[in-house]
Amino acid sequence: MQVFVTRALPGGALDTLRALPDVACDVWPDDEPPPYETIRDRVPALDGLLCLLTDRIDAPLLEAAPQLRVVSQMAVGVDNIDLAAATRLGIPVGHTPGVLTETTADLAWALILATARRLPEAERFLRAGSWRHWSPGLLLGRDVHGATLGIVGMGAIGAAVARRARGFDMRVLYSSRSPKEVPDARPVPLDELLRDSDIVSIHCALTPETRGLIGRRELELTKPSACLINTARGEIVDEGALFEALSAGRIAAAGLDVYEKEPLPADSPLLVLPNVVLLPHVGSATLETRGLMAARAVDNLIAGLRGERLPFCANPDVSPRG
Ligand code: GLV
Repeated sequence: MQVFVTRALPGGALDTLRALPDVACDVWPDDEPPPYETIRDRVPALDGLLCLLTDRIDAPLLEAAPQLRVVSQMAVGVDNIDLAAATRLGIPVGHTPGVLTETTADLAWALILATARRLPEAERFLRAGSWRHWSPGLLLGRDVHGATLGIVGMGAIGAAVARRARGFDMRVLYSSRSPKEVPDARPVPLDELLRDSDIVSIHCALTPETRGLIGRRELELTKPSACLINTARGEIVDEGALFEALSAGRIAAAGLDVYEKEPLPADSPLLVLPNVVLLPHVGSATLETRGLMAARAVDNLIAGLRGERLPFCANPDVSPRG
């Protein structure tokens, strides 16, 4: 069976795949993602594809893959994959929920603290040699302890972020598509969450319903002292509207790990704002977690190649091809 892996993966997960006697495993050697055309040209001969969130796996590409038995993505989000087309064509799609929950919640918290307490700005100030003396008004941020945290999307990562908020004595509000029981947190409509929160943190999946969920109207509801944190997907927030709101002081600051377009273009206006903390999509980026994600992606791939149920399937209603 022929498998294409669109990047070298951390840890030993690919060794498991290479050790299988009936699998020929081709790994894209570059650090840059393979061009779309490269994947499309290879899929007609593939039985399995292990891909990343940087690869566009759309309907034409899936339709060009008559013998593809599985697409396994090393990520929890699968918005780069046309799930409806995969389901229609009988191709199970694997993903890696669970193993990255705590690590991504840690990063959301790193961004909450860095943004509210202006850490990167303070470090730039020191490194630039501008620190002359302790000063009562120097680099004043906002208190995180005791503040109101609004969580948009109460899935596993949202819940892990809420749990950490208890240690900071925060009041936690959340908005969620489906009813959820979350200890010490109150479900509210999104507009109320935006009006009442000091920190708004986004944790929903990118779907047609959540694309542009936080736009100009929503950013007019937030407190001018609020911080917006996004570790989910860039397209959930209208970046142009966020830039305007930050520039006009309608919202105090933002901490972002994800963008409408990745990598963030070098001419993005966000880059010139001092009140934005910008990270290069590193939510799950720890040695341990990336190793676990790679292992889970390989497990899904092998199950699909063998015609078994994927341990973590993003389209569980699929009827796999024979
Ligand atoms: C990362 O963004 C993921 O979806 O796993």
